[in-house]
Amino acid sequence: MNILITGGAGFIGSALIRFIIQHTEHQVLNLDKLTYAGNLESLSIVKNNPRYHFSQTDITDQNALSTIFEDFQPDAVMHLAAETHVDRSISAAGDFIYTNILGTFQLLEASRLYWQRADKDKHSTFRFHHISTDEVFGDLNTTSNYFTENTPYAPSSPYSASKASSDHLVRAWYRTYGFPILITNCSNNYGPYHFPEKLIPLTILNALAGKPLTVYGNGKQIRDWLYVEDHVRALYMVLTRGTIGESYNIGGHNEQKNIDVVESICALLEELAPTKPNGINKYKDLITYIKDRPGHDVRYAIDASKIQNELGWIPQESFNSGLAKTVIWYIENQEWVKNIQTGEYQNWIRNHYNH
Ligand code: NAD
Ligand code: TYD
Repeated sequence: MNILITGGAGFIGSALIRFIIQHTEHQVLNLDKLTYAGNLESLSIVKNNPRYHFSQTDITDQNALSTIFEDFQPDAVMHLAAETHVDRSISAAGDFIYTNILGTFQLLEASRLYWQRADKDKHSTFRFHHISTDEVFGDLNTTSNYFTENTPYAPSSPYSASKASSDHLVRAWYRTYGFPILITNCSNNYGPYHFPEKLIPLTILNALAGKPLTVYGNGKQIRDWLYVEDHVRALYMVLTRGTIGESYNIGGHNEQKNIDVVESICALLEELAPTKPNGINKYKDLITYIKDRPGHDVRYAIDASKIQNELGWIPQESFNSGLAKTVIWYIENQEWVKNIQTGEYQNWIRNHYNH
């Protein structure tokens, strides 16, 4: 199979490409604009494999897309390219509207026109898999309910609203044109190669640097954390065995309060990196409560029984083992870290956190 993957230089996209190249015989074309969040060093393990190809392309570029479809002749598209950081969407929503909504529209149209012209075999087996988030559902206020595939959409942030819009476009292309789509909505991922603007990698790196570990509001917000390699296994199962037109929720069965996540990272670092920066007694002394995020969602939690019952997927990694692997990875991969801490990154951290 020829699989066109958008956003393959990002956190989840690069894990997906490493998985497909290492565990299957498929050809992969990674189509990525290489924004601040895209990093080809995350693909160094597969970059010389003859089944891996790369094109630096913006998904809003209609002409480039149609050339790529003609040249690569994909059997499937897995669409991960997006602007993904909620805090950035609050500071400047424009890129989120542009990439997540307009970009998804352009990709859908390029895919549909290609699919309509394809020969009978390709036409009948082609799939467009849209990778989305549980944030489209808004938040849960009680501890007893979960997001299912039937939960109404109620996004809270510019990021989640733009992802919700893209989900609606994808579903409409199925209903209107019969275009063969699949949608997955996953909870928060964590693991190696995660850009350090998100909670887990930011906390690990700030702790190692002796900087404040910033917790928004009261720190009691809940996220359902899933190890990224469990997510990519689920994505591959849905692509190859999911039912066209359906959506699947993917989650870790692993609800954690933000403050507990930060404290767990501190405890792991006490063992794994006992030599601390000057003046630091305990890593957890660095925990600093700051002003809450506007519109902050209180709780996300996924009911993943559909993908479990229909496709047999369950997460393999426990939070304790996954978090330990992640902390060790960041300690051992300072070169990767140094190379992404560019001027743009430093500016974001300085402006957003004042440190
Ligand atoms: P990421 O921010 O790490 O990577 C996004 C990638 O998309 C980058 O490589 C970037 O260069 C590329 N990109 C951005 N704009 C582009 C454009 N206009 N054209 C082409 N490429 C462009 O994101 P991630 O965390 O890997 O998330 C991947 C997808 O999974 C997103 O669609 C996101 O909404 C979804 N998702 C993420 C999570 C999570 O916890 N990270 C959870 C559920 C779903
Ligand atoms: P994040 O990793 O940005 O993912 P998302 O907003 O998509 O869930 O944030 C995870 C949680 O951690 C979220 O509730 C916001 C919170 N958070 C902090 O408390 N401090 C921080 O510095 C960051 C980046 C996030």
